[in-house]
Amino acid sequence: MSARVGAALAHSNIAMSKYWGKRPYPGNYPATPSLSMTVDALTTRTRVAFDPGLPRDTFELGGQKQTGTALARVSDLLDRLRAESGTLEFAEVVSKSDFPASAGLASSASGFAALALAAVRALGLDWDLGRVSDLARRSSASAARSLFGGFVELPAGPTEATTAPLAASAIAPPGHVDWKLVVAVAGEGAKPVGSSAGMEQTGKASPYYDAWLAFAPRAHAELVEALAARDFARFGAAAEESALAMHASALAAGVVYFSGATIEALSAVRALRSGGVLAYATMDAGPHVKVLCRPSDAAAVVAALRPIPGITRTLEARPGEGARPIDPKEVG
Ligand code: DP6
Repeated sequence: MSARVGAALAHSNIAMSKYWGKRPYPGNYPATPSLSMTVDALTTRTRVAFDPGLPRDTFELGGQKQTGTALARVSDLLDRLRAESGTLEFAEVVSKSDFPASAGLASSASGFAALALAAVRALGLDWDLGRVSDLARRSSASAARSLFGGFVELPAGPTEATTAPLAASAIAPPGHVDWKLVVAVAGEGAKPVGSSAGMEQTGKASPYYDAWLAFAPRAHAELVEALAARDFARFGAAAEESALAMHASALAAGVVYFSGATIEALSAVRALRSGGVLAYATMDAGPHVKVLCRPSDAAAVVAALRPIPGITRTLEARPGEGARPIDPKEVG
């Protein structure tokens, strides 16, 4: 019997209202609702080949054979899919991203979204995107959002323990607004503390964790309303607040993702605003700063961020499309 092959492309997404913290029961259910923008400029392509001749799963990322945790997280998603679909075959997984992995540019979001869709396609399963989103969420909650394009919401998990599906859904298509995101890359290395570990530490040790859990749904509701009204300034201000509150809770537990360049970039964004340029910053589990702006201000934002020592490059992104199947040959 020959291999069953599927491939998919997914863009990364950047949360504007942040998921930070998990429900205290198994299944990787987020403790806060989140709202993200899928970004066209950050892309992962993944091919999955289930093959009865393979003795185990293999995973190659950016041309490098992966072992340890990276391989285990891929196998874990495939195990859940094998259990649901009744297949016993192992798979060869090959993946390529056009940006650095594990550096806070949400590589796990596009990575697990592309993996989930490619694996479902490889097995010829007729699943809707919601079901694929739930499969991806159980590996990495932000990945649930990358199945969809434009602006995407992932609700918090129920307070009572559950195993029920929890999927993301699109709340506005990519063309809903013309806003841009300038990504200021602050170094290309892997982050010292992964998001799961950072969240766990925040939950255990932050005196502000409960305050964050109480605040996050309010910031989220504000973002959803501002998006529906296409109110850029209100949306941007709420996004920056959500990011700062998330990092405040993490910082108080000793979980520090900022570098000097992060703080410099944040203050450059605030200086732009004082000068009348509407730009708003958000940061995730890494030092990079993503700046939301209007297209006519993108050049001014780039000009303000580029000279900052430690900012190695900038990327410009727009709201992108959701994940889609591709020809396996596109993965190489
Ligand atoms: C700060 O989705 O990477 O980017 O579910 O443990 O894999 P796991 O976490 P992950 O966390 C993302 C955290 C964030 C905010 C966000 O994307 O909502």
